[in-house]
Amino acid sequence: MACWWKNGIVYQIYPRSFQDSNGDGIGDIPGIISRLDYLRDLGVDAVWLSPIFQSPMADFGYDISDYRAIDPVFGSLADFDRLLAEAHARGIRVLLDGVFNHTSEKHPWFLESASSRSNPKRDWYLWNPGIKGKPPSNWMAVFGGRVWEKHPATGEYYMHAFLKEQPDLNWHNPEVRKAVFGEMKFWLDRGVDGFRLDVVNYYLKDAELRNNPFTMGEYPRPYDLQSHVYDRDRPEMHALLRELRTMIDTYPDRMTVGEVMVDKPGNPELSASYLGAGDELHLAFDFTVFWRKWNAESFREAIGRYYSGIHEKAWPVITFSNHDKPRAIDRYQNGPETVYRARAAAVLLLTLRGTPFIYYGEEIGLRQGKIPRKRIVDPLGVKYWPVNPGRDGERTPMQWTGETHAGFSTVEPWLPVNRDHQRVNAQGESQDPHSLLSLYKKIISIRRDRPALHSGSFRELPAPKGVFAFLRDAPGAHSELSEEASPEPVKGCAVFVNFTSAAVRCSLSEPGVWKGVFSTHTGKGEGKVEAGIILQPDEAVILERNP
Ligand code: NOJ
Ligand code: CA
Repeated sequence: MACWWKNGIVYQIYPRSFQDSNGDGIGDIPGIISRLDYLRDLGVDAVWLSPIFQSPMADFGYDISDYRAIDPVFGSLADFDRLLAEAHARGIRVLLDGVFNHTSEKHPWFLESASSRSNPKRDWYLWNPGIKGKPPSNWMAVFGGRVWEKHPATGEYYMHAFLKEQPDLNWHNPEVRKAVFGEMKFWLDRGVDGFRLDVVNYYLKDAELRNNPFTMGEYPRPYDLQSHVYDRDRPEMHALLRELRTMIDTYPDRMTVGEVMVDKPGNPELSASYLGAGDELHLAFDFTVFWRKWNAESFREAIGRYYSGIHEKAWPVITFSNHDKPRAIDRYQNGPETVYRARAAAVLLLTLRGTPFIYYGEEIGLRQGKIPRKRIVDPLGVKYWPVNPGRDGERTPMQWTGETHAGFSTVEPWLPVNRDHQRVNAQGESQDPHSLLSLYKKIISIRRDRPALHSGSFRELPAPKGVFAFLRDAPGAHSELSEEASPEPVKGCAVFVNFTSAAVRCSLSEPGVWKGVFSTHTGKGEGKVEAGIILQPDEAVILERNP
């Protein structure tokens, strides 16, 4: 493969919820190691681990107090080194979650910075005396309240975009850049393959701390009533990302994937902008489709905008779920059609142009958990329930078996296991050729064998209303993809996805040259295709051109 992070598939693990190995109800690193064969058999090329570093867990690891230490709840550094070696032995790369917009308030850098106004690290965070006893700007925190927290000991405010336990680093300070790059190098030198960068678009704030203008946002949080022009997405970000890219690229084959956190209804052009001309982030998430309904026109528009914002030397990401938003299967649910939509979504995820990110459990149809109020632990849910139930529902334990606790743990886990685990679990699905898990494995192997699907170009195909259809052409035919010209003849693939609940007839522009390679509807899909195809409700098919 020309480039693993462009052509491969990444699988996100939320470590607390993947596999518990020591009976404390919390997933850990030895647990992940015990499931590496499952991931290899699924066919993924890399895993991204949500944070496993030492943390007071105010935000379940997104508040780090030592970037170089593994939190004991997950294991030890020796466990991590073993995970890295075992993953690499199976051809699986490992990405860590770099949470560098902020640290924990317990991080020694912050403790020093907070110790006095004259401390040499004072300027490593954003401190301000305020104006006439009031905070210096109107900025609001994502998790509630203002970003400015009064610090009685030194009489100044410090800034936190999330919880007050997560003070923001001052990325304008060159010492901070050097220190954070140093923490990254610690892991790169150990053999880690790259980083997912938490809220990378928040790193730099307006140096003059200007007030954000008011806007009519879509959520009930005060944060959503501001247009975030001064507390994130600053134009200076691009130079900073080029600096970061230069450092990362001194290590061969490593990468970054940035989380670009924006507000509903999404901003694909902005996400795309952080790729620069292929010289900023290696990859950047765009979450616009997270806010789209199951609708062909809406998907086409979101994907089209994202693709057209991406420089020809840069590469997209396709993802439908993560640990911060309700799972795609539930967002798209529609009674008995739900399972078919999940199958069609898998086709989109794995055949659209871009690196697919699968969220753990997505491949078995893990549903959004229904968390009783007294079990809610996510700070967002604790604060905003019932208007916003928080993110626990998308973080419930992986369902490995139909046993009590779903094979995840021997004790009651930190979040409840979904009630459907006797039906929805990896063990049962691996034995059923018609399961969602078998479908993922099949499409992944189809994709692996076809350069058009993992590295080809993208062109929309004409299709009736309610159908999203596109052509993936093989590399070699396109200059921007000629890094490694394919020795095989050009073989394009066409993908048709019916988003509607009715059968739809689609005609093909070049009748006679296509053959079916896959359909989400079992018993269909292979063989020669004539002038047209009839798609069943929520059916997705992959065709291949036979030159
Ligand atoms: C984005 C992460 O994905 C989310 O889980 C976290 O709470 C915030 N950043 C703060 O780090
Ligand atoms: Ca454990």
